[in-house]
Amino acid sequence: SQACSIHPSILSADFMNLESELTAIASADAVHVDVMDNHFVPNLTLGLPLVEGIQRVSPIPLDVHLMISDPDRWAPAYAEAGAASVTFHAEAATAPIKLARTLRSLGAKSSMALRPVTALEPYIDMLPELDMLLLMTVEPGFGGQAFLDVVVPKIRRARAAIDGSGASVALQVDGGVTAETIKIAAEAGADTFVAGSSVYGSDDVAAAIAGLRASAAA
Ligand code: DX5
Ligand code: ZN
Repeated sequence: SQACSIHPSILSADFMNLESELTAIASADAVHVDVMDNHFVPNLTLGLPLVEGIQRVSPIPLDVHLMISDPDRWAPAYAEAGAASVTFHAEAATAPIKLARTLRSLGAKSSMALRPVTALEPYIDMLPELDMLLLMTVEPGFGGQAFLDVVVPKIRRARAAIDGSGASVALQVDGGVTAETIKIAAEAGADTFVAGSSVYGSDDVAAAIAGLRASAAA
């Protein structure tokens, strides 16, 4: 099993105490920040001003997940705000290759997400443009949903495609990741794991992160 990264999602954190909620996950590899626009997904979370504030106080890098329409227009500002990686959705982007290149030119890792039923195969030739591929294991929009096992074959195909491409692309899964389901995703080839409710729903956030790490490596 490869080295793994754990990215807690602050979607499940206490938004009135974000600074202490960020400090609590300092042992994680990055903080996953879910931006939703109530258009690409039926939920509204936070936007650029709050991401800029999180960037100022976070002890760990920002992994920004944009669940928004027209990422071609909006995503570059998150790279300019200092996010270590910026993920846009393939289903929403007009010119994904151009956008991935723009994000890299601004110093961020370029990352693209696929909804559970979006096919991987049309995007395989694009892997060298990406630093990370995110496979959603729930329908984007809400935390606390159950991991969709139907995505596991796509995780396997993505692992094979990344290895075959020779490119250095992290393979992230997001949605329903727990100490149990992380084993399934890791075994299928994922190396980067988002976890919202299973981290922030725990009494001991640091122990939950350590538990996920141990399960992924098992
Ligand atoms: C869902 C978000 C996820 C969410 C995951 O649309 O993209 O990042 O926070 O939450 P859990 O881990 O509770 O499924
Ligand atoms: Zn997310």
